[in-house]
Order: sequence, then C-alpha cells, then structure tokens
Amino acid sequence: MSRDEKIRSMLTEEEKGMIDEELSHYPTTRAGGIEALKIVQRRRGWISDDLLLAVAHHVGMAPAELDRSATFYNLIFRRPIGRHVVLVCDSVSCWLMGADRLRDRLRHRLGVGAGETTADGRFTVLPNVCLGACDRAPAVMIDETLHGPLTEDELDRLLDSQMP
Ligand code: FES
Repeated sequence: MSRDEKIRSMLTEEEKGMIDEELSHYPTTRAGGIEALKIVQRRRGWISDDLLLAVAHHVGMAPAELDRSATFYNLIFRRPIGRHVVLVCDSVSCWLMGADRLRDRLRHRLGVGAGETTADGRFTVLPNVCLGACDRAPAVMIDETLHGPLTEDELDRLLDSQMP
C-alpha cells in the first residue's frame, strides 16, 4: 500500500460519517475543517501530520490551509497530549484575580509548566488566551469543563477527581 493510500485509509467509516454529517451544517468545507479535526481529535487525542492529511483529503481542503486553521485554533493539538488537558487562562482578568497562584500550584502539584505533560501522561498543562469566563476569574478548563473562580485548594481537589 502506498503512503498516499495509507493516509486515505486512516479515518474510520464512522469518523468519515460523523465528519460528513457535521459538514452538512456548514456553507463551505473550509468553515467545517476545524470541526472535522475536532471530531477526529476527540477520538484519537491529537492530530498527527498524517491524520491532518487524511482529514484534509476527506474534506477536500489543501493540507496547508487546514494546518494553518489548526494553528490558529489553539484547541487542536498537533502533538501528543496527556489524558487530561488543563487549560490555564492567560489573560488580564485572570491575571488580576490570581492566575499566577494557580499556575504555581499546578507546577508544584504536577511538576510541569505550561506546554508540558506529566511523566505519567495524565495531565498536559497549556496556557490559553481568555477562556471567555472573565466573570469567573481565575478560570481553568479541564478537558471540556470550565471551572472558576478557583482557589488553589479547589484546583487540587479538581485534579484529584480526574480519572487516572
Ligand atoms: S481573562 Fe480569564 S477567562 Fe477571560
């Protein structure tokens, strides 16, 4: 099987069906490209170069264009990540309300800083521009759930409650 054929066969029929269904809600393929990547990422954890090519081929987009969109949308992970992703807000309302303390607690608890993954692969910590919850500052998103305002102790409890 050639590399091209291999890439084309990477997506499962189920993934292709889900992507097609999602794309039917968008006026253009380009508008739905990120959603297609999100579908695949939800099932596979992150988007490798080959997966990006497979999605680009399926939705009929140029790989470079899809890659550019993925770069701008910082919730598409282009590198392996931990089983849980902790997004720490890195914008002004959260700075003012103590985001630094949460970052320090994460570093102390998990032994990793922004952009890093714990040695056991359980958590990846990523900075994120405003999470859209400034009234809940300082805010953190763990996987797809937003939390805030958070104290360091509440953050500890949240980390403890995540599945191993
Ligand atoms: S500044 Fe942190 S959620 Fe908006």
